[in-house]
Amino acid sequence: MNQRISKLAATVAFLGLAGVGAGAHAADADNGKNLVASHNCAACHGANLNTPVSPEYPKLAGQFDDYIFFALRAYQVGGGNPLFGRTNAIMSAQVQGLSESDLRDIAAYVESLPGDLVQKK
Ligand code: HEC
Repeated sequence: MNQRISKLAATVAFLGLAGVGAGAHAADADNGKNLVASHNCAACHGANLNTPVSPEYPKLAGQFDDYIFFALRAYQVGGGNPLFGRTNAIMSAQVQGLSESDLRDIAAYVESLPGDLVQKK
């Protein structure tokens, strides 16, 4: 009986740790690069996401990853949430099929690109 309880406790502890591990998903910039290529982000944001093809498309390269992640999530949420969502038909369509971890991977890739938006220390 005691053995069964301690086994259960060990299982719970393991699952708890696994949960924390999943929350702290380390962003994978290589996967982000693949997603940016397969979603054709450069068609608007330009080569290396640093040379937008038109002034209404923002430069992205080098932007901080937390900013990019937040922006992408806001397009996903959309204008239905006025406190958080961003309303833009083009970008909302771009991000609908992506998971939260995809967005983090894309954000890590964007930050890794050389750009002139952010002064690196
Ligand atoms: C058809 C053109 C187009 C494509 C393709 C496109 N974007 Fe955009 N993107 C835009 C436009 C237009 C905006 C500005 C929207 C606004 O005013 O909120 C924008 C804004 C953004 C922003 C916010 C930038 C900021 O400084 O706030 C991010 C991040 C972004 N795009 C990432 C991406 C990623 C990643 C992809 C590929 C998955 C992508 N975009 C594909 C047109 C595009």
